[in-house]
Amino acid sequence: MDQVNNLVSVDQFSNQDMMALLKQAQAFQNGQTVELTRPVYAMNLFFENSTRTHTSFEMAERRLGLQPLAFNAQSSSMTKGETLLDTLKTVQAIGVDLAVIRHPQNAYYDPLVAANLTLSLINAGDGSGQHPSQSLLDMLTIYQEFGHFAGLKVAIVGDIDHSRVARSNMRLLTQLGATVYFNGPKEWLTEDFTAYGEYRDLDDLVEDVDVMMLLRVQHERLAQANNVSFDAQAYHERYGLTVERAKRMPAHAIIMHPAPVNRGVELADSLVEAPQSRIFQQMTNGVYVRMAMITQLLAHRGLLAHAPLEV
Ligand code: CP
Repeated sequence: MDQVNNLVSVDQFSNQDMMALLKQAQAFQNGQTVELTRPVYAMNLFFENSTRTHTSFEMAERRLGLQPLAFNAQSSSMTKGETLLDTLKTVQAIGVDLAVIRHPQNAYYDPLVAANLTLSLINAGDGSGQHPSQSLLDMLTIYQEFGHFAGLKVAIVGDIDHSRVARSNMRLLTQLGATVYFNGPKEWLTEDFTAYGEYRDLDDLVEDVDVMMLLRVQHERLAQANNVSFDAQAYHERYGLTVERAKRMPAHAIIMHPAPVNRGVELADSLVEAPQSRIFQQMTNGVYVRMAMITQLLAHRGLLAHAPLEV
């Protein structure tokens, strides 16, 4: 990868960059460590709720020896009108080296990147835009399973329009040579998706895919957008991975979901822990890909004492 100070979009990753990040993540999973040249401080600024991404970024930072500083959006001076850019300039002046940000606004990071800050930025999810670290952990999970991407058939099913995971994964998967298919309510499939994959009937798809990737129905964004009522049972029957549909998946096929899961909606409750589910493996992989992303930025800033070491 070109030397970068910010990782904000999957569009930054060539196939070679991605494979290097996955290899580094796998090495961390196998016990590789790093040594820092000086104390390094991180701040995780989350303006949307999160369990997985927030916790696994903090875990990744701690495992690499960084020191995470607490940030609470509700008690920060942003409630007094301070902008995000001024907040970052402030914490940079105080000594923060890395800011990990989740924000409801699509591409919130554009003016921050344009400001050429010295601290490094990682996008932990922007509105319905991108979720690069989720996408990398999904790629690692698929790679661990199949050892390649070319020729794989991946179904992305559910609340596609609201999904930054779908937007990131359709780009990386097609770039890597996989074929992407979509299913879900057609009103949630906007034009920007059709360049990346075909809409197919769910009952055909389940018999043909290598990866069945379900997406959470984002009730909070749906309610905001149209104030529509939602029938969970009807959705499950029409667009969900039911037990009956899962039985028709090829024996080698896997189930993925970025989580949080609405059990009994996107997929049957019992399938979350089924043998073909990789949902918890995705969460574990999240720590290692985030360690790899942070390491990339630390290397750029000369904060690694030497290349990552085998234990
Ligand atoms: N998958 C994901 O981004 O989960 P969180 O919202 O809990 O971080």
